Amino acid sequence: MSIKQQIRNDRLPRHIAIIMDGNGRWAKRQGMHRFFGHQRGVEAVHEITEACAELGIEYLTLYAFSIENWNRPQEEVDALMSLLIDTVEKETPTLHKNNVRLLTIGDTSRLPQTAREKFLNCMEYTAGNTGLKLVLALSYSSRWEITEAMRRMAVKVRQGEILPEDITEQTVDSLLTTAGIPDPDLLIRTSGELRISNFLLWQLAYSELYFTGLCWPEFNKEALYEAIVDYQKRERRFGKTSEQINS
Ligand code: FPP
Repeated sequence: MSIKQQIRNDRLPRHIAIIMDGNGRWAKRQGMHRFFGHQRGVEAVHEITEACAELGIEYLTLYAFSIENWNRPQEEVDALMSLLIDTVEKETPTLHKNNVRLLTIGDTSRLPQTAREKFLNCMEYTAGNTGLKLVLALSYSSRWEITEAMRRMAVKVRQGEILPEDITEQTVDSLLTTAGIPDPDLLIRTSGELRISNFLLWQLAYSELYFTGLCWPEFNKEALYEAIVDYQKRERRFGKTSEQINS
């Protein structure tokens, strides 16, 4: 049985989040410039988005650019921004054709104006699509997101819109940049690093974590299917006992 045939359609993760890592190291190993790795990374984004849409996954969140990534050499930041701009422009018709809706999370006000415009165009163009929701984390970091949520909560309390004793987990959820998006069921990180790197710290509370040594440009459909099959073998207990889950 092929790895794809081993996937159980009744136990698919509703939301897959991916830390796409290892573009630079992969390129260096080929004797190429880091940018070549990012270019090949875009091809992997295309392949994995297509695979998720085909499988019927509801949400795919990709960590495309962290707030910390702004500290990379300016030349690399500029190259990544150009790549994002070119990619969103080129891929918008394909996303639309495949009924994919684009969403973004993060401090997108920090993106260059052209990038902001292109992403906004793509989001508006695909807003009515009912298939896969592709969520790009752009200038995103979890501590930034949580700090912003706390700031907004403090304002609501000060204005008397909410009482401190009425604050619930749902209140916090509603103030995060991911408001309305279900928590990831499965988090995948490529390149062998065993870290979360400031990604969705609140939302990953009960996600299943999957680490692979493959670098992002090497991560293909088969590798995704393997991650899903591994996920489906796990028992998600959410703090309960195994007996409770199985009764
Ligand atoms: C991590 O590799 C990757 C990034 C920081 C950027 C990811 C960007 C892309 C895949 C291209 C554009 C994406 C979209 C959504 C169109 P790294 O540079 O940290 O690699 P390293 O750890 O080997 O240095």
